[in-house]
Amino acid sequence: EAAEKGGYPHFVLKEINEQPDALRRAMLGRIRDGQLHLPELEKLRKEGLFDRVQRIIIVACGTSYHAGLLAKYVIEQWARIPVEAITASEFRYCNPIVGPETLCIAVTQSGETADTLVGIRQAREQGAPVIAVTNIVASAITRLSDAVLYLQAGPEIGVVATKTFVTSVVVLYLLGLYLGEQRKRIRSEQMSAFLAALEHLPDQVQHILDQAAGPDDVIAPLARRMASVSNMMFIGRGVGYPTALEGALKLKEISYIHAEGFPAGELKHGSIALLDPDTPLLGIATSSHIYEKVITNIQEVRARDARAIVVATEGDERVKQFADDVLYVPATLEAFSPLLAIIPLQLFSYHVAVARGCNVDQPRNLAKSVTVE
Ligand code: AGP
Repeated sequence: EAAEKGGYPHFVLKEINEQPDALRRAMLGRIRDGQLHLPELEKLRKEGLFDRVQRIIIVACGTSYHAGLLAKYVIEQWARIPVEAITASEFRYCNPIVGPETLCIAVTQSGETADTLVGIRQAREQGAPVIAVTNIVASAITRLSDAVLYLQAGPEIGVVATKTFVTSVVVLYLLGLYLGEQRKRIRSEQMSAFLAALEHLPDQVQHILDQAAGPDDVIAPLARRMASVSNMMFIGRGVGYPTALEGALKLKEISYIHAEGFPAGELKHGSIALLDPDTPLLGIATSSHIYEKVITNIQEVRARDARAIVVATEGDERVKQFADDVLYVPATLEAFSPLLAIIPLQLFSYHVAVARGCNVDQPRNLAKSVTVE
């Protein structure tokens, strides 16, 4: 087993560190000579699906659902098709309105999650076309789908999803760009800029990982200082919101600290009552069109004496006046910022869990794939 861990103390840490390669594999062959290629979708394209689709529903659970929430933001922007991301255990019982003009996208790294499979089977029975996004070749979801986009992330042994999260996001984003291209909503120079930014991401993730492994790492020391808290809150806006949800889920899963993710603007509608000096807040404040709004929300929190840890873009010195601790990530396009912001959050959760003596590779009560309802 030590050999399988490749010198890392845990599979989770190994898999966090494999993310640059996993991202490269997820894009391999799909971005070529500055152009997007998704041959897996050719049959559906020829059938005219991408011209006629009126609505998209993304069906998924847990971390895959968070990837789906991110995809909602970008697909709506890039393709101008309405998108709903819904958790599969709700979708299967809500008698959803779907039909041949509703594209269903199933996101499931294992391809075996029971709720996702049942929900998708029902949608198919009503005539909805299905695209699966999965890591496992020939898994159950692939037999229920009209097309499959594989993550190509390589095996993930740790129960918590790390590299399958970032690769799910990238594959969904590629699908979003493809839809934008098919609907003639993305100009070729915009496409080139998006693809170039995507191709740059693996090196940027590597940069975060290298810093975290070096003598100037701030994440592990911060995690050790936070290891005894009982509650934590994560906030973000726009694509920062699903990132906050995923950051909170990671912390819950492996450290057993109670953590919640919120849209930053929703805090003052109730949850801010939970904040006190013993409940740190983690804010996602990377560069975005709503950066100032997030900063305002972080200031509201600090006014309650809560400690603020902020994920920000390198070069943003101003943020230091609003934060007790800053975790910097490189600059990218706003849409892609979650793929960088999530890396320090994964490392933070990992180090908190190790400091608390938790079983990080196999957390209590969790299974890698949930094949029963
Ligand atoms: C992720 O860290 C979790 N273990 C869990 O939320 C997971 O994402 C969920 O069960 C969905 O799994 P799937 O992607 O295999 O369908």
